[in-house]
Formats: sequence, structure tokens, C-alpha cells
Amino acid sequence: MRKPIIAGNWKMYKSFEEAADFVDEVTSLIPSNEAVDAVICAPAIYLATLVEIADETDLAIGAQNMHYETEGAFTGEVSPTQLASIGVDYVVLGHSERREYFAETDEAINKKVRAALNVDIVPIICCGETDAEREAGQTEAKVEAQITAALQGFSAEEVQHMVIAYEPIWAIGTGKTATADDANAVCGAIRQVVANLFDDATAQAIRIQYGGSVKPENIEELLSKEHIDGALVGGASLQVESYVKLVEAGA
Ligand code: G3H
Repeated sequence: MRKPIIAGNWKMYKSFEEAADFVDEVTSLIPSNEAVDAVICAPAIYLATLVEIADETDLAIGAQNMHYETEGAFTGEVSPTQLASIGVDYVVLGHSERREYFAETDEAINKKVRAALNVDIVPIICCGETDAEREAGQTEAKVEAQITAALQGFSAEEVQHMVIAYEPIWAIGTGKTATADDANAVCGAIRQVVANLFDDATAQAIRIQYGGSVKPENIEELLSKEHIDGALVGGASLQVESYVKLVEAGA
């Protein structure tokens, strides 16, 4: 039985005060992390403070990106070691916005996944197709290529502890959600890719989230599906009330 994981991705939203108040408030409202993993992936400059506020609570804190090198002359970047040193537990890798606006390649994402595991940070590896790829019937081929590249060079044991997020790009921030059945079918196809690359036990262990206009009104149906183990949520993770409802749906 896979434990559901509900991760909010705040993207480039919230002031420092809003972020701190949010985390302070939700830590007393969310269900136990024995039932559901609740994560907030916040802007990098807030992470140290949020980790402190969330310390010894049921909320985990994640980053939205990182470099793959431990240290070096990479102005403006944040390293895996730096994230680990402040107690960050998760990192979103290969989000479509990173791929599109910051030219992140499959190769760089694969290096970042390795770097995350090296410092015991759980990677949330994003994949998903554009509207045009969906129309052309290329959804499964696209996610297969992305996931195969991201998982290259890992052992089955390592992969079991990772999280994959399937986010159809056309559903991100648009209000359009994939139907629960369609999302489940693609998440099932991703699980099959993992089975083919590794083995059935690994495919059954890895958690696969759906992301793209998830909100309290649609999360229960999504989570009721066999292959959907959680959600990666943008807009609806920005308000305490809706975030708490999303986490409660996972419990
Ligand atoms: O990482 C989150 C996704 O990009 C989904 O964003 O829930 O605002 O559609 P959204």
C-alpha cells in the first residue's frame, strides 16, 4: 500500500510573512504523516525559516529546483548540499516550467536526481506532454522518454524511494484537469515503464502523483484511482483552507 503524498508547489508566489504564517497555521491543521505525506515546496529564500517552523510537525518542506553540483562558481544557484544542510526533505525536479523557461534538459534532470539521492532528499520528478503532443497521440511516448532519461543509472532500490509527478502541461494553471480516468491511464503507463526498466516490485512501490488544476473539488476522484498516489498542486496550495482540504483527502 503506497502512502499518498500531497505536495504544494508555490512557484514564485507569497511574501516571506505570508509563507511563514501559512506554514505556522497548517502545521496544526493537517492530518498525521502516518496517513499522508504533506509537503510544501517553497521559494528557496524561505526554506530555512519554513523548515524551522515545520520542525517536528507533520509537514515536510521541499525546494522547487536545485543545481546538481555540490558547490562551485554557479552564480544564483542553490546546491543539493546546501538544501540538505538546512533540513529540506524534497525537491521538485524537471517541472515543465523549468524545462520550458530555463531550458532544463533530460540529462540535467537525471544529474539532479542523482544529486538529490546523494544527500537523502526525495526527488519529485515531473513529466508530461504538451497539448500538441496529446493531440498527436504522443502522450505515452513523451512521458516514457522523460522518465527513462530521468531514471537512467539508478538501481531498483533507489527508484522505490522516488516520487514521479505526471503533469500534462495543458492542464497546469488552466483550470482544465485531465479526467481521472485519463490521468490514471497515464500514471499506469508510467508505472509500466518503471516495471520494464526495473521490476514489478519497484513499479508497485514508487509513488506517482497527478498535477494540473487539482483542487478540493476534484482530488477525491483522482485519488480514488489505482495508479494515482497523490497530487502536485500549484494554485490550490496557496490558500490554507484548500491546501488542508487536499491533504485531508489524501489521509
Ligand atoms: O506544480 C504544480 C503544477 O504545475 C500544477 O499547477 O495546480 O496551478 O495547475 P496548478
